[in-house]
Amino acid sequence: MTEPVIEAIDAVKFLGEGAGRVQALKGVSLAVGGGELTLLMGPSGSGKTTLLSILGCMLTPTSGTVRVGGRATADAGPEELAKIRRENIGFVFQSYHLFPTLNALDNVRLALDVRGENSHRAMQKSKEALARVGLALKMASYPSELSGGEQQRVAIARAIVSNPAILLADEPTAALDSENGHAIMEVLAEIAREQSRGVLVVTHDPRIVPFSDRIVSIEDGKIIGDKRPADGEARADKSGTAAAERTDKPSRKDRKRKP
Ligand SMILES: Nc1ncnc2c1ncn2[C@@H]1O[C@H](COP(=O)(O)OP(=O)(O)O)[C@@H](O)[C@H]1O
Ligand SMILES: [Mg+2]
Repeated sequence: MTEPVIEAIDAVKFLGEGAGRVQALKGVSLAVGGGELTLLMGPSGSGKTTLLSILGCMLTPTSGTVRVGGRATADAGPEELAKIRRENIGFVFQSYHLFPTLNALDNVRLALDVRGENSHRAMQKSKEALARVGLALKMASYPSELSGGEQQRVAIARAIVSNPAILLADEPTAALDSENGHAIMEVLAEIAREQSRGVLVVTHDPRIVPFSDRIVSIEDGKIIGDKRPADGEARADKSGTAAAERTDKPSRKDRKRKP
């Protein structure tokens, strides 16, 4: 792994009030580097979204440290946190979060408009980002004219257009059928490997495993596993799972985007 792009150290998070108060994270340390796709897997309620929100500076930990690009965020106020997010982090959600009244190009461009980017450059970059996710021919389409998989690709283009060091995706394939889910994971894996970006994907979909470089498991607010399916340790694993994962893993050449 390269220098961590984003890092949580001993993060604890309590959520809710009174009798509903829950310790969602019980001391979690996780560093995510550039150039690889990391999966964060665990059962529902295990703390995945909470950890992603803390790494993405959308939530602050009750205790513990978060570093983005080596910089601790503890003393940052809301405006500074927003700036850290804008400059470093791209988000992709299960439900796309596109503006229905804007076409694909304008949905992506909006992410640069809010950053005060020159409009000609913004247009250029947005077209490039849409082409990267295989939507060069759908730039003028509105969300209602796009499939779920295509809408998610627009959301990915919007997340990468500002060139963030890390992309955080919370169950990005959960609302998609397996073919579209597959295509989205191909896009995310390419973004990690070819653009040296860190990509962290929360999922409980085991079909995603062949696309990943690293799998972090979380249960009941604690990290209980962290392994790389392709490394020596996993190869020595006689269970056969790791070997199956490697065989299934599509080579970069084979990874063709579906229309
Ligand atoms: N706003 C909240 N108030 C109280 N408890 C919450 C809140 N959000 C999440 N939780 C609880 O925190 C735990 C972790 O939630 P979450 O991070 O959303 O899990 P996951 O994404 O793995 O399903 C769960 O027990 C959940 O019920
Ligand atoms: Mg969740």
